[in-house]
Amino acid sequence: MAGTDEEERRRFVSLLLAGSLSAFLLPLPYGVAMYLRDSARKGAPAPPLNLGPAAEVVGATGYRSLSLGAKRVGIVRTRSGSLRAFNLRCTHAGCLLRWHRNERLFKCHCHGGAFHEDGTVAKLPPERDLEELPLVLRNDNLLLMDKNTDV
Ligand code: FES
Repeated sequence: MAGTDEEERRRFVSLLLAGSLSAFLLPLPYGVAMYLRDSARKGAPAPPLNLGPAAEVVGATGYRSLSLGAKRVGIVRTRSGSLRAFNLRCTHAGCLLRWHRNERLFKCHCHGGAFHEDGTVAKLPPERDLEELPLVLRNDNLLLMDKNTDV
């Protein structure tokens, strides 16, 4: 009888250890798969986005935001009349920027940073200028390109 109790106790401890080990190890492959998927998304450039005729890209407001792959992008017509496209992630800590038309600034509401319409830093704490994305004219249409993308 004492041997049976001992066997049951050992079986219970074995099951407990196996369950604990499974609970610890099973999420591991899922986490690795999600990490690899996200890394692949971040690393791969988005395909070019056809914005249509250049004269109609930003309309009367002079500004438009849109998505290019995983990036939020702001396109602004500068005072000189050129169109510029910028990644709207603040270079300080990655918060999303908003365009303030009257001040002609991209402002960050996380820590108060700001960028001029040419993407240069207007107000700290960001120390790096905005990432600019290429705009390419093709067959009367403007294409928004991701970095390192060939047409
Ligand atoms: S994240 Fe923009 S100022 Fe800090």
